[in-house]
Amino acid sequence: MSRTIIVSNRLPTKVQRTAESLTFQPSEGGLATGLGSIYRQEGNVWVGWPGLFVEDEAEEQHIEQELSADSMAPVFLTEAEIRDFYEGFSNSTLWPTFHYFPQYATYEQAHWDAYVAVNEKFCRAVLELAGPEDTIWVHDYQLLLLPEMLRTARPDCTIGFFLHIPFPSYELIRALPWRSELLRGMLGADLIGFHTFGYMRHFLSATSQLLGLSSQNGQIETPSRTVLVDAFPMGIDYERYVAAAASEQAQQHEAEYREALRDTRIILSIDRLDYSKGIAERLRAFEVLIQRYPEWREQVSLIMVVVPSRDQVAQYAALKEEIDEIVGRINAQYRTISWTPIHYFYRSFPLEELASLYRLAEVALVTPMRDGMNLVAKEFVASKADGKGVLILSERAGAARELSDALIINPTDTAQLAEAMHDALVMPEEEQVHRMTAMQALVRQYDVFAWTKLFMDRLAYSKIKQLTLA
Ligand code: UDP
Ligand code: G6P
Repeated sequence: MSRTIIVSNRLPTKVQRTAESLTFQPSEGGLATGLGSIYRQEGNVWVGWPGLFVEDEAEEQHIEQELSADSMAPVFLTEAEIRDFYEGFSNSTLWPTFHYFPQYATYEQAHWDAYVAVNEKFCRAVLELAGPEDTIWVHDYQLLLLPEMLRTARPDCTIGFFLHIPFPSYELIRALPWRSELLRGMLGADLIGFHTFGYMRHFLSATSQLLGLSSQNGQIETPSRTVLVDAFPMGIDYERYVAAAASEQAQQHEAEYREALRDTRIILSIDRLDYSKGIAERLRAFEVLIQRYPEWREQVSLIMVVVPSRDQVAQYAALKEEIDEIVGRINAQYRTISWTPIHYFYRSFPLEELASLYRLAEVALVTPMRDGMNLVAKEFVASKADGKGVLILSERAGAARELSDALIINPTDTAQLAEAMHDALVMPEEEQVHRMTAMQALVRQYDVFAWTKLFMDRLAYSKIKQLTLA
């Protein structure tokens, strides 16, 4: 039987070390939460890193056993690989470049060498597991070289690649010393998927300008093969979020929060701690809101969940300090005995608690500077059973291409963002329901199962096409 081998740097389960034992928890991040609902089907396997440095073999074996019982195969990274491949090339070179923060990008030969070596390590792990009939589906920017490595080892195998972050304009890509190698790495796939047509266009432009490859209708002719390129906006497991929001547990949490907050109206934001998410700008906009509209003081609070992420990378550590400072300053300046302007949580929450926050909030603020898709926006929409609630969404999130009934804003325009929060708070219920139900219909229809099917059908088609051309 043919299976799908999913490959990504991060597994959907993260292993953490506490003083006494190892814990196994769901990972955060859209890739893991989104695909988490599909990988267990039909004997599929997910190959990836469990998120910690493992020193001894006994521990490695224990982790391997636990994860394999849940269809996962761990790839262990050494401390040097975590530093140079993960924190280094992946998150200090590629991530800032692809999110239009080139001023944060570093170009270190040692990081590149580690990136090549870890992609090779993943290649060996996949080849050990995959049979000739299996479909290999590689995910995201940490593994851009893997499709070509797999292709070299198995020229006929079926390989899909999906990029979960933006693919930036050629001007950004050309700044990378290893730009041609990265593009060639991706072209080892039979099908390359992006969240939006804009990202796809940028990729086609880069392959044309840097590799001299022409394309027609999303089809690139390489000297050896035809590669298909297309846009597949990722969805969520809609029914899972509907069910979580309707659950007894979520309702109970909501009631507890409601009691503590009394009548305060809630604006919500949820992100990993990342400079691409526009967190500091959002805080400033909230301050402008309560300055311009003092009537909202004591009436509205911002609940801000920030999930720790990549804290060994300098820019992330600096951002943490900046956020702490801004939240502290705003709260100190405006709080009263009975009102806290910003409830700031620096930790992650399990699904049921996130669901209760989605229920509780009247407004969700999703205001990234750049975001491949942003699944939090879709999760908020899915959680609003009564259709009430307003989504404020950055025009630079992939999700804005689909969720046009949100209040669409420019995340650097603090004044516009403050006005959007005011507009959301005074929006008539009828309009809220009108907008929300339109978005719900879309998010329900194009859920993660539909997304997977579209991608897989297209991948199968790419193979048939190659055979008929051969
Ligand atoms: N998330 C989570 N626990 C938290 C906060 C967030 O599991 O405490 C999840 C959230 O539900 C969403 C994902 O993390 O599915 C974030 O995905 P998104 O696409 O919004 O951004 P990314 O982190 O991938 O950049
Ligand atoms: C984004 C990326 C994923 C990544 C996730 C969490 O969603 O697209 O590839 O797994 O962030 O980041 P982390 O560095 O913790 O894996």
